[in-house]
Amino acid sequence: MTKRGKFIVFEGGDAAGKSTQAKLFAEKINAFLTREPGGTKLGEKIRSLLLESDEVLLMPKAELFLMAAARAQHVKEVIEPALEQGRNVVCDRYSASTIAYQGFGRRLPIDEVEEVVSFASYGLEPDIYVLLDISLEIAGERKPLADDRIEGEGHAFHERVLEGFRRLASDNPAAWVVIDGTGGVSEIAERINRLVQPRLGV
Ligand code: TMP
Repeated sequence: MTKRGKFIVFEGGDAAGKSTQAKLFAEKINAFLTREPGGTKLGEKIRSLLLESDEVLLMPKAELFLMAAARAQHVKEVIEPALEQGRNVVCDRYSASTIAYQGFGRRLPIDEVEEVVSFASYGLEPDIYVLLDISLEIAGERKPLADDRIEGEGHAFHERVLEGFRRLASDNPAAWVVIDGTGGVSEIAERINRLVQPRLGV
């Protein structure tokens, strides 16, 4: 029987450097790299609708269900089959982003968001969440936060999102590794390799 792959998720606020680090880590462990919202044809179309559109008015619950729809497709079409075939999968954002952004950021009730998230993901949880933790000040220095519809939200919104991630990580230390996201790309990559690889056994 094929040994099931490991599922590793990178999370963090905007401009935390997680896409760069997710890519480097996937190369390091020879994993399949994917992202949310996205990762499938449908998911990428939903992503454009969610992030690029300023003509379409999106209410918080509509935003939540579009994130959930992209995830439901992604889990069944891509992530679950890859894990079953024994591939390790690295995903740039997953369920914790929905709790942090739609729950903490948009202030939808957290328990209700959690129910939607669990339903959309068929209950699939990552083996490990990697939180790249940087302050909003450093994020702002790296990149002005106005590239898309969600990034363009104000400072208070992004503060709540960051608080959401930190709370999720501190509530469940067995599932999360928190990485100091300050410093250079290779320095951060080194931290991730040192702390994450031994916990995964990959
Ligand atoms: P990215 O630019 O980091 O790839 O993420 C796209 C944006 O989508 C980012 O601002 C976070 C947001 N997002 C949510 O609001 N909820 C979610 O569930 C996911 C996966 C992303």
